[in-house]
Amino acid sequence: MGNLLSNKNILVMGVRNKWSIAWGIVKAAQEEGANIIITYQGEREKEGAEQLGADSIFQCDISSDEEIDNLFAAIKEKYGVLHGVVHCIAHAKTEDLQNDFVYTSRDGFAHALDISAYSLVAVSRGAKDLMTEGGSIVTLTYMGSEKVFKGYNVMGVAKAALETSVMYLASDLGEANIRVNAISAGPIKLFLPKVLRILVTFWIPFLKKRLLKETSHKRTLEKQPCIF
Ligand SMILES: NC(=O)c1ccc[n+]([C@@H]2O[C@H](COP(=O)([O-])OP(=O)(O)OC[C@H]3O[C@@H](n4cnc5c(N)ncnc54)[C@H](O)[C@@H]3O)[C@@H](O)[C@H]2O)c1
Repeated sequence: MGNLLSNKNILVMGVRNKWSIAWGIVKAAQEEGANIIITYQGEREKEGAEQLGADSIFQCDISSDEEIDNLFAAIKEKYGVLHGVVHCIAHAKTEDLQNDFVYTSRDGFAHALDISAYSLVAVSRGAKDLMTEGGSIVTLTYMGSEKVFKGYNVMGVAKAALETSVMYLASDLGEANIRVNAISAGPIKLFLPKVLRILVTFWIPFLKKRLLKETSHKRTLEKQPCIF
């Protein structure tokens, strides 16, 4: 147990279950003494989120401006100040990951970019007014933004938009002493039914293209947002 984040109010968005990267980030931040606020997408994700023993849990479907507004109003009322946000949210339609990229629908393209990239902009806008003591916003990306990984498809485009959004947000919010960063994780083990797809889609190409000559260590990744 450390005290890197003691008395810090940290919002972690995107807990689905114990395989979620957000799950491990919550644990790591709790070990560093943070007051943790969790959001989950909907009823299906609620049970997982409740198991983490966070100080507060809120539902927030990131596609709804109203739910985002309600979230930050509730955080303001309870905590007054926010020190950190960890954005672990992404989604693309299954068919857009299974078909060749060239067949991505207009709707699927808009959906992936809305949930996986624009959501960071909306969340940063809500968070900045509560970060009156300065703060840090961290999101998770993947190298599919820079290189082609068959099957990552529109998510690669969304991650490129996410990374560019990070640059512009960092430029806007730097004056308020708010840092904005993206951590590019390597492929991480997921919920069992996803494993086979991930193996074929990410691991095999990743082992060929990896930048560092080692694979990602989940525990190291989960601790990184505590430092940023
Ligand atoms: N697993 C990997 O190998 C890997 C590698 C690099 C980056 N990432 C990134 O890490 C982040 C977390 O992914 P994960 O691997 O933990 O998977 P995950 O499925 O556990 O997390 C994705 C989260 O996004 C949430 N979400 C989707 N649509 C939403 C919506 N409309 N409103 C609110 N929440 C919504 C889901 O509920 C889920 O909690 C994602 O941005 C992902 O792209 C994952």
